[in-house]
Amino acid sequence: MKAITQDRYGSADVLELRDIPRPDPKPDEVLIRVHAAGVDQGVWHLMTGLPYLVRLGFGLTRPKIPVPGMDVAGVVEAIGPEVGDFMVGDPVFGTCTTGSFAEYSAARADRIAPLPPGLTFAQAAAIPVSASTALQGLRDHARLRAGQSVLITGASGGVGHFAVQLAKIFGADVTGVCGPAKQEMVRDLGADHAIDYTREDFTQGNARYDVIFDIASNRPVAQLRRALAPEGTLVIVGGEGGDRWIGGTHRQIGAMILSSFIPQNLKSFIAAERREDLLFLTGLIEAGRLRPVIDRIWPLSEAAAAIRHLAEGHARGKSVIEVIPEA
Ligand SMILES: NC(=O)c1ccc[n+]([C@@H]2O[C@H](COP(=O)([O-])OP(=O)(O)OC[C@H]3O[C@@H](n4cnc5c(N)ncnc54)[C@H](OP(=O)(O)O)[C@@H]3O)[C@@H](O)[C@H]2O)c1
Repeated sequence: MKAITQDRYGSADVLELRDIPRPDPKPDEVLIRVHAAGVDQGVWHLMTGLPYLVRLGFGLTRPKIPVPGMDVAGVVEAIGPEVGDFMVGDPVFGTCTTGSFAEYSAARADRIAPLPPGLTFAQAAAIPVSASTALQGLRDHARLRAGQSVLITGASGGVGHFAVQLAKIFGADVTGVCGPAKQEMVRDLGADHAIDYTREDFTQGNARYDVIFDIASNRPVAQLRRALAPEGTLVIVGGEGGDRWIGGTHRQIGAMILSSFIPQNLKSFIAAERREDLLFLTGLIEAGRLRPVIDRIWPLSEAAAAIRHLAEGHARGKSVIEVIPEA
């Protein structure tokens, strides 16, 4: 099969389009004929091996999985013997184990779900990692409730555009922080207020938010705490910045330690891959309450350009690699 591969960590220049063998699904996995794959910041971290901390889990000297990409949407091609709930030919979406920037990818059956009706494969591929992160962060970690105020940084990106819509669905008063070009987009997604970070510093104003959902993750925690209600909750989603060894994790760890000594609740989390969340999101999509925003669609041969575009840090929703162009 054709796949984007890397045999060492590095910039997008390490990616090559090659012919490699199809993966063999494990007993609890399905093999998916990939139609589309999502591009998110996690792909960049695993491609570069930065911060070095990620190499502990994903390969010390080179990536254990040579094909990038977690988000996948496609059609079930083969089924492992322990899989009872999918059939060959089923259209599905979710996260995969062998890399999705390829013609075929293996995925655990409990991490995929039927393709949401009415969505293209490209739209579905935009959902799994980013929307599950927004959902788990707001519902399970921030425990966002109707009537609360929430401020979302990075509101226009992959995770952020889902977070804005989900926070509205949960009944919150939503403030999205993004650059000047995306104010209208964030309001269109349902935000009650949009702050342009090039013109206004929300940490210097008088507003105090019940929840701050920090996706952009480029402000010191002390500054964010100034805009947080006295017993409010800060959820740190992103781990950007910092040094090459531990990246932004020093911010997350520091916040969690500090949290034990103050009335404000400071948290961070790593999103889990779960079918039940994909089904929850599908229900909202079917009801017309949630929609993925596609920044740009790239052919498989331009995966490196797609990652360079993402690394510029100004995504408008989510970029997607189309392995089989939509008819
Ligand atoms: N915890 C987890 O399990 C988990 C899961 C997924 C992702 N993440 C992390 O979440 C972060 C975001 O991921 P993503 O895929 O959403 O990235 P993304 O698609 O690149 O979006 C990042 C957004 O941040 C915005 N931004 C940049 N500077 C900003 C600022 N000063 N204030 C407010 N917004 C700003 C950019 O928009 P503008 O053009 O408007 O600046 C961009 O839309 C990454 O660090 C990623 O690693 C964590």
